[in-house]
Order: sequence, then C-alpha cells, then structure tokens
Amino acid sequence: MGDTLTRKTPVDASVVKNKLEQSGLEKVGLASIRELVRLVNEIEKETGEKYIRMEMGVPGLPPAQVGIEGEINALKSGVASKYPMIEGVDILKKEISRFVKNFMNIEVDEKNCIPTVGSMQGAFASFLVSCRRDIKKDTTLFIDPGFPVQKMQHNVLGFKHETFDVYNYRGDKLRAKLESYLEKGNISTILYSNPNNPSWICFTEKELQIIGELATKYDVIVMEDLAYFAMDFRKDLSKPGVAPYQSSVANYTGNYILLISSSKSFSYAGQRIGMMVISNELFNRQFPDLKRFFKTDGFGYSMIYGALYSLSSGTSHSAQYGLAAMLKAANDGDLDFVEIVKEYGERAKIMKKLFIDNGFEIVYDMDENEPLADGFYFTFSYPGMDSLELLEELLYYGISAISLVTTGSERTEGIRACVSQIHRSRFKDLEHRLQVFNEHHS
Ligand SMILES: Cc1ncc(COP(=O)(O)O)c(C=O)c1O
Repeated sequence: MGDTLTRKTPVDASVVKNKLEQSGLEKVGLASIRELVRLVNEIEKETGEKYIRMEMGVPGLPPAQVGIEGEINALKSGVASKYPMIEGVDILKKEISRFVKNFMNIEVDEKNCIPTVGSMQGAFASFLVSCRRDIKKDTTLFIDPGFPVQKMQHNVLGFKHETFDVYNYRGDKLRAKLESYLEKGNISTILYSNPNNPSWICFTEKELQIIGELATKYDVIVMEDLAYFAMDFRKDLSKPGVAPYQSSVANYTGNYILLISSSKSFSYAGQRIGMMVISNELFNRQFPDLKRFFKTDGFGYSMIYGALYSLSSGTSHSAQYGLAAMLKAANDGDLDFVEIVKEYGERAKIMKKLFIDNGFEIVYDMDENEPLADGFYFTFSYPGMDSLELLEELLYYGISAISLVTTGSERTEGIRACVSQIHRSRFKDLEHRLQVFNEHHS
C-alpha cells in the first residue's frame, strides 16, 4: 500500500518495502509458505523486530516424553541397523488398531494399520493405489479448502483433480454438489481434512453420512485426512473407549483410508511418522486394473508391497517404537494427549477476539448451525481488502500469515492464521499491532 511509508508502522516500513522488492515475488500473497518464512526471517534479522508468526503449521508444544523414551530405548536395542518390515512392527500395528477402536470406535484389523513417513507419504501412497485402481476413474475430488501440498503431489504424479469450496455447500446441500461430480463416473477418490486445514471447519455427522453414502453408491474411496485428530475441542474426545469419539466417514462407508498424523496431536512432526488405516473391506478388495502397475490386484497388498515399498521401504524403525509407546500410553489412559494440545484452542479463542475487536472478521465461522471450534487455525479478513493486499499490508505491522487463495478457497478476502507459534506472552504485541493497523485503515 502506497502510504505505509508515511505512517509509523510497528515494523520499519522502508525495510519491509525493500525486502518485498528484493524477494522477486510478484505477489507475496501467492508465495509458498516456505518462501514467506524466508522473507519474514530476513525482515526480522534486519529490523530486530519479532513478528507474530502465523504462517506455518508447525507444532508449538513439546512431544510426550514417553515417545522419546520409546524411541531411545529402541535405538539402544539396535533397531537402527535393521530394515523395518514395510507393513510396520507388530507392536505399533496393534496399538494403531487399539487407538482407532478407543478413540473412533471403529474396528480395523491390525494387519490393515500401517505406519507411513508422515501423513504426507501416506497420502502419496494412497493416491498411487486409489487413483489407479480403475482405468475409468482417473480423477480425485478435493473437498476444499485444503492442504496445498496434496495438490502438489497430484501434479508431481500427473494425476487429474477437481475441487470445490465447501463453504456454500454445508449440510444437505453437500449431497447434490457431490453427486454432480460423482455421477460423471471419473472420480476415484475424495479427499478432505477434518478438522480442516486451513478453515478449521469440522464436518457434521450429517455431512459425513452424505459423503459415506455417496462413496458407497459410486464406489469412490474416501481419504479422510485426520491430521488434527481429536482436536475439535468442543467435544471431549480424550477418553479411550468412551463416547464421544473422533467423527469419521468410517461410520458410513467401507470405502475408506484414514490418514492419522502424529505431527500435531502428538507434537511428533520431526520424526515423520503417521498412520494409514485401511478399512477391512477395502484392504481385501481386488481391482484388476491395479495389475497395470502392481504385481497383484489386491488393494492392501499393492499398497504395502507396491506403493510403500517403492517409496521408502517402510518407516523409520525407531520412530515406530516412539509412536507405539505414545499410542499405548493413550490407549491405556496414561497419556491424555488431547489435554496437552487443547492449549491451541485456548490461544485461538483469545486471538480471534483480538482480531474481531480490531475490525477484522472471521471468514469460515460456522459448522452448519454451530459456531466453529477454536483450534490450530482460524481464518480472518479485513473489510474492503482482498487477501493479497491484506497479507502484504500486515507485514508492515509485524504479522505474517498465508492467503486462502492458495488453498482452493473461494473466499478471496481470507487469510489463514496458525496459532501454534504464538505464545501467550506475545498477545500484548499482537493486540497493539492490530490496534495500530485498525487505526490506520478504518
Ligand atoms: C491437512 C494436513 N494433512 C497432512 C499434513 C501432513 O502431516 P504429516 O506431518 O503427518 O506428514 C498436514 C500438515 O500440516 C496437514 O495440515
């Protein structure tokens, strides 16, 4: 914006302007998250001003000690020199199966519970099998807004995808919208995250039922990305074996793959381990078209001995023991992992209020009739500005975040804020910066 240089902004405007120019980015709002991280690092270095950094979804809490110890013990026992089994070590498979029973109330055989190198690899492997199982079904449907890297994976693979922003199709409206895609017959897979990155919407039971019923009707596989497992803090999802449970499409169709990340719920992002859970029904199904790429037509077999084998020959041996130890503690009721990450919800509640009090608006704000949960992310806008303008302008006020434009959202005014890096001690700074911003723009 032209006149930031004549106003006193919280961060030296001439430095911000220079760095923006030097970055070579045509529009900073269209930069990838990592490009933005680099730019803000540079501004911080030159001005000595610490930003309110909300651009990157990294855990801001330490991992559970039981996981670290599990991993250290495994290393001491010598696992580092041994290749792990591709399908995962027995003790982890058992705990994953217990975990989905305890926290989702669904039954999946241990055999069908597989560790992956983060959910990121779980998604990549799932695409390799799910999107190639039927020659006529060559397109993935993303229920957006979504995590941009999964679309990048599609591009890397040369796979086709379609997408729509679910904002205007909540509740019963979702059925007709989904059917308009599925009835064409080319959709192999539906993917969404729940709770959703970036909007933090959570599908209602009605919506999950619609998705599940249609997946069965059109024989489409649902990849349910549970990267923020049990983090809908409106419900107490923390008690093993006690309702309520993490909501899931698994209650409504047998055509599912669950991708459960350990990165956020267990603050274990650095160890790159996630869980892929394939329904008993799907794991055992045969798809003749898989033989074009894999040795067999078995879905589960192709996933393990085709996709995961060729990607990385399994998942880090010691990390499997670390995750197994955390899951065991959670399953036994000895580790309340939900209580630990609730801090994100508390922060979001306070931060959202600071934004609203200073003229900002929340973009995705409802799950049908219920106000959105407070969690890892929230979305905001400022009247009269589109998100690219707003994102750039906020940099002068020491605030960084990402635009929803890169996430498949149609809400071109929206910005995603991630609360994980904003410790409570920064709230005063945030409040002051938002106040100055509002004074300068209202
Ligand atoms: C929706 C979503 N899916 C998947 C991932 C990746 O998870 P992982 O760290 O387990 O690879 C993330 C991480 O931010 C995410 O937000």
